[in-house]
Amino acid sequence: MTTSSDLSLGRRAMALLDELARHSDESGRLTRLYLSPAHRQAAETTLRFMREAGLDSHIDPLGTVVGRLEGADRDAPALIIGSHIDTVVDAGRFDGTLGVVLGIVTIEALRAQGITPACPIEVLAFGDEENARFPTNLSTSYALSGRYNPAWLDGQDQDGVVLRDALTRFGGDPGKIDGIARNPARYRGYLEVHIEQGPLLEVRELPVGIVSAINGITRARATVIGEAGHAGTVPMSMRRDALAAVAEMIGIVERAGSTRSDTVATVGVAQVQPSAINVIPARVDFTLDARSPDDAVRHAMVQDIVSECEAAAQRRGVGFTIEPFMDSPATPMNKNLMQHLEEAVESIGAAPLRLPSGAGHDAVAMAALCPAAMLFVRCKGGISHNPAESITVEDADTAARVLIEAVKKIVV
Ligand code: HGY
Ligand code: MN
Ligand code: MN
Repeated sequence: MTTSSDLSLGRRAMALLDELARHSDESGRLTRLYLSPAHRQAAETTLRFMREAGLDSHIDPLGTVVGRLEGADRDAPALIIGSHIDTVVDAGRFDGTLGVVLGIVTIEALRAQGITPACPIEVLAFGDEENARFPTNLSTSYALSGRYNPAWLDGQDQDGVVLRDALTRFGGDPGKIDGIARNPARYRGYLEVHIEQGPLLEVRELPVGIVSAINGITRARATVIGEAGHAGTVPMSMRRDALAAVAEMIGIVERAGSTRSDTVATVGVAQVQPSAINVIPARVDFTLDARSPDDAVRHAMVQDIVSECEAAAQRRGVGFTIEPFMDSPATPMNKNLMQHLEEAVESIGAAPLRLPSGAGHDAVAMAALCPAAMLFVRCKGGISHNPAESITVEDADTAARVLIEAVKKIVV
């Protein structure tokens, strides 16, 4: 049972989350893709939150909202607290945004307690963690470690909009990306609070947990080219049906992901052309997302999927191409920062549980800059990437208190 609280921190976090949830590109559901008008609105709202909390804040050339509180020693290596404000399509309101608002609530609490940190603290709201619009990989956070891939600027979304043009329209600046890179010597660590997006904490009846490692991810875009034809006249044996081929390939992906208990593989998008009830599908563009805690296992699984899909395409006389655009490594979290989080969890009377992350996070990119660690927060039914995603105000409050305690251990 955690120590008692007036829940003011949890209520403050929920109020900030409610305001951010209003920024969506679609009416009736939450969709806020990288560089969209809703992303711009959410970035400006986050900028206001940060400034009201006393952070010196701006929006960087890639759209990340950056807030900085100077410490007693302005030159001491800084601590970063962050997460993302972009969402998937028809998203929940806590994925990413919870970590951003808890960073802001932490700054508000330190200042309310009259605490000046020994070192600077930065709060960051990244904009391209979901990589749901363009073929990128944690682009806005990798930029901080100087690993922005210039090819990402030429990537297109499903409407053919080029990232570079969307960035300029957003108010970003493709010419100033190099200036975002940070000097690793200037940063002591990165902390990210995030909903678990899985059921373990709820099953174990724990409000929070400490992430041990983040699974590796392969993502790819694939295309099958068949031949359009009359659905009523072409004999089944003479068809080159692109959708029937992809149906077989989806089965291949599902079987490959199911071979081990710790691997997953998903086809999340399939776009059929010409998509008419009485036309044999000519073309299907689809996606692959494959994950494992072990990179060698993941690479072997993806290779098996590709080989089997190529064989299926050969048998069916259809064209098959696949272009990987993400190879995100399995990433262990920093033991020292994990220790601080564990002590903070114990200090508020909770039991510290370590658990792996099946989801990817900006912490993977930030681990390339400095030591990184994550605190998971229980979410109802483990549901995420779904509008039913939810947490309690009590767990939001507990997470805030743990984060504040951990930050104090690191910077006070
Ligand atoms: O897909 C993921 O793992 C994360 O939510 N971007
Ligand atoms: Mn997330
Ligand atoms: Mn997500």
